[in-house]
Amino acid sequence: MIDIEAHSDLHFENLVTAILVFDRELCLCRMNTSGENLLMTSFRQIVGLPATEIFAVSPGFIEGLDRSDQTRNPLTQRGVQLNLPGNRTVSVDCIFTPVTNTSKHPEIIVEIIDTQAISRLLKEENLTMLHSAVRETLRGMAHEIKNPLGGLRGAAQLLERELENDELKEYTQIIIREADRLSNLIDRMLAPNGKPHTEKVNIHAVLEYVQNLLEAESNTPLRIERDYDPSLPDLQADQEQVIQAIFNVFRNAVQASAPDGQIWINTRIKRMCTIRQHLHKLAVVIEIMDDGPGVPKAIENFLFYPMVTGRAEGTGLGLSIAQSLIQAHRGLIEYERTENRTIFRILLPIEYHDDQA
Ligand SMILES: Nc1ncnc2c1ncn2[C@@H]1O[C@H](COP(=O)(O)OP(=O)(O)OP(=O)(O)O)[C@@H](O)[C@H]1O
Ligand SMILES: [Mg+2]
Repeated sequence: MIDIEAHSDLHFENLVTAILVFDRELCLCRMNTSGENLLMTSFRQIVGLPATEIFAVSPGFIEGLDRSDQTRNPLTQRGVQLNLPGNRTVSVDCIFTPVTNTSKHPEIIVEIIDTQAISRLLKEENLTMLHSAVRETLRGMAHEIKNPLGGLRGAAQLLERELENDELKEYTQIIIREADRLSNLIDRMLAPNGKPHTEKVNIHAVLEYVQNLLEAESNTPLRIERDYDPSLPDLQADQEQVIQAIFNVFRNAVQASAPDGQIWINTRIKRMCTIRQHLHKLAVVIEIMDDGPGVPKAIENFLFYPMVTGRAEGTGLGLSIAQSLIQAHRGLIEYERTENRTIFRILLPIEYHDDQA
């Protein structure tokens, strides 16, 4: 026998659309996980509260709810501004549907469609496609450069052996050194290509490890404020690759902030998280933030492409490599600039699935 109630509960919980249900007093009586994600609060915290309290600063929502309650007709309200905790605002479409067949307990179901999330999804997909196209082109080019480079280095070595004048060897040494430098650069450009070798990874241990590496590198203690979610489960990931990706992003933050600048590291869990068109039950969100000036406007749109740099001494490979490594784990790195913070957000599914494109 199928337990129909439990079954529909399961469906309700797994919907990507945020669903809120209000009772006849217009107090919240149900909400799914996507609703919790969108409103950034748990159902337990707001159950039973009147809509006017939950959405006190979102008049468009209350207006739609009231109207559909009075008319007992379905209603769609577009472009409703929802004000969320942390001074965030999202623009959503709301569909209000009064349930008429349960006359004893009239309810209103509200579907909230996050239109910004949809356009973000499209942007993510474009970014991923362009990123892999550029990397493939570079990969082809790099191979073409590496072969003659090997010949050049070998010939310089042979020549050096024949030279009797030591002063002239200085020139062959330059050829060899520069060929090695170019070859190293190309190796960095080509890496990584392999599939992740997954194991259990504690993301907080990784963050602490990277922080120690960077402190050793900069010779000064860094001003870092951490806000870790202690309930995060271990990830299924390639530890070395995750370290490399976080190191590249973290190091940029250190380089961008002033010597006494502030860096913030946050971690949290996200349920029912869509990353690059795939829905993951659980994902970890790692935010690495600094109070530096932010990415120069001129390169903002190409930030994750190889060889794009805003620093005189930069090679422009750090973020491109980090993005590839995280994408190999079905995750994504996003950039956002708020009024006074530069935010790099790494989304990583907790479980690694090998079967996705
Ligand atoms: N936190 C940040 N704040 C400001 N600008 C940043 C930040 N992170 C990255 N950038 C900008 O993005 C550019 C690209 O970064 P990326 O790490 O790919 O290359 P890079 O740091 O220049 O060189 P490297 O290959 O040594 O990492 C940087 O040169 C910098 O201009
Ligand atoms: Mg860098």
